[in-house]
Amino acid sequence: MKNTIVVGAQWGDEGKGKLVDVLAEQSDMVVRFNGGGNAGHTVMHAGETFKFHYMPSGMLHNKLCILGTGVVINPKDLLEEIKSFSESGHKPRLKISARAHVIFPHHQLIDAKEGGKIGTTGRGIGPTYSQKASRINLRILDIIADDAESRIKNALKDVKDILIYDEIFNEDEYKAYCTAVTIEYAQYGQYFKPFVADTEDLVRLAARAGNTVLFEGAQGTLLDLNYGTYPFVTSCSTLAAAAFVGGGAIPGVPIRILGITKAYTTRVGEGPFPTELVGEAATNLREAGHEYGATTGRPRRVGHLDLYALRYAIRISGIQELAMTKIDTLALVDGVKVCTAYKIEGKEIDYFPADAPTLEQVEPVYTDVPPIANLTREEWLQLKDKAQIDLPESISSYIKFIEDFVEVPISILSHGPERNETIVF
Ligand code: GDP
Ligand code: IMO
Ligand code: MG
Repeated sequence: MKNTIVVGAQWGDEGKGKLVDVLAEQSDMVVRFNGGGNAGHTVMHAGETFKFHYMPSGMLHNKLCILGTGVVINPKDLLEEIKSFSESGHKPRLKISARAHVIFPHHQLIDAKEGGKIGTTGRGIGPTYSQKASRINLRILDIIADDAESRIKNALKDVKDILIYDEIFNEDEYKAYCTAVTIEYAQYGQYFKPFVADTEDLVRLAARAGNTVLFEGAQGTLLDLNYGTYPFVTSCSTLAAAAFVGGGAIPGVPIRILGITKAYTTRVGEGPFPTELVGEAATNLREAGHEYGATTGRPRRVGHLDLYALRYAIRISGIQELAMTKIDTLALVDGVKVCTAYKIEGKEIDYFPADAPTLEQVEPVYTDVPPIANLTREEWLQLKDKAQIDLPESISSYIKFIEDFVEVPISILSHGPERNETIVF
């Protein structure tokens, strides 16, 4: 298999974890390159369910897994994830970039105070990336250093004014916080020391040696900091391009860019969602798809497949192929439609609005879709090695319609959460 970048082509939760687990079997190394504990990637196999927030979804295949430089890490949460994975009888093979930034409790406290209007996951993502950009944050290499305690103390001095001004702490609380966090984070540093490496070098050497590297994106293209539905986005890049910056993918070396889309659309948190369903139709789709956040448990907003937005995501992320998930869920609901255009004041537009209030106002133009065939699990499994054309007509024509509209092929169809519930064309 070629080196592959897997990215979400919607607003996250497209099923990246499941697809990375499927593709990891034929890969030598799996690399997360962006985001942090805001991600929740579900892998289900042989009766076990894992919700990975940090660890790449290749973990079940015992492949070398990497947290690259673009990731932001809460050591406490990562430690818990490693422990619970190990306790379930698995052995993590993990390397962490020395350059990855560290999430501190104060980042989470700021996020809890300020992230409400975006509906963030509260994991401290925005404050960590913003202090990284302000050049006042610490990296993993700082907390594993021999003088970690003094580096942590100095970094906390740099954010003192922010924390007091924002009323996160008063003077006494700040002092107590510094003492506790300095000790706690220096201890995490000691624990993580053996995991830390120059991960981009590992990726480069692996690719050079002809090994197959799989890059696992977090979030979705429409949550990208630059090109997503700003300000209702996450705080890093979620495009395939981020695998080069944050994961060690090498520019110029041919790579496959696989976008993941659900057969419909979901979104968690605030922000424009032109094809959003409300009322009973929303409840039916949410329940059919068990659409509750893997990280926060929040009910996901649900809606029709938005091909206009998907085509935009494909273009800006450079997606060459799509994997479509949850076709089995779409088969459980009535009134399936896809959005093929946006109108503003009655006129079709030919761009994806960059302005969130404008996107809130667009009127989606729909094409009705015949009901999707509802197959049993056994019937689905019998389609495993079939070509698209041999699928039930309602499914092959849905796929064909989407491919014609977005101008990239759907090369994988997922019809259930388990690894074997996947058809590769
Ligand atoms: P990610 O963040 O992109 O990895 O996606 P999540 O794990 O947050 O959400 C996707 C959800 O859909 C998870 O509960 C998966 O187990 C589930 N899932 C993935 N693919 C399929 C599929 O084809 N059919 C069904 N029914 N569930 C799926
Ligand atoms: P995976 O990798 C869905 C959303 C949040 C919020 C916005 C900003 O599982 O697809 P943040 O905590 O990042 O500052 O929140 O982005 N969000 C996600 N939505 N799936 C995710 O990750 C998300 N990560 C962030 O709900 O609207
Ligand atoms: Mg998720």
